[in-house]
Amino acid sequence: MKSLKTIDTILEKKDRSSCDLIEVLQDIQATYNYLPEDALKEVAVKLEVPPIEVFRVANFYKAFHLKPRGKNLLTVCLGTACHVREAPKLLDELLGMLNVKPGETTPDKKFTVETVNCLGACALGPVVVMNGKYYKHMTTAKLRALIDKMKNKPARKNKK
Ligand code: FES
Repeated sequence: MKSLKTIDTILEKKDRSSCDLIEVLQDIQATYNYLPEDALKEVAVKLEVPPIEVFRVANFYKAFHLKPRGKNLLTVCLGTACHVREAPKLLDELLGMLNVKPGETTPDKKFTVETVNCLGACALGPVVVMNGKYYKHMTTAKLRALIDKMKNKPARKNKK
């Protein structure tokens, strides 16, 4: 984990009198790509909030992640419309390529694979989303090309 100085930097930018815990957690997640346990403990101390409250909020919202996540987030839709267009086959292919299970992150922290039950773009199925970009009518060949491209892309530097 980055030094706790980063947490201080995040908190210094906030008005402590009206400091919003969710906003602080969003900033921490933007910095680390997840919410490290040490960071949550530090936030509890600095904001004088019971640690259980910080962990409750971090656990409650689906947007927060308590486990390290990859630089690239891949979401495979398994909703009915995508399912009948072979989304499960795409997911199997993807999991095989990256050697992970749904919800897991590759050891090199390059990829996290998640599933969802509908993205609201059923006519475009099967749909895979990577880092917020929708890939419509996905095929195993397109998926393989996308992963190969991302595997060979130089790593981005983390925010400081
Ligand atoms: S079922 Fe996949 S977008 Fe709706």
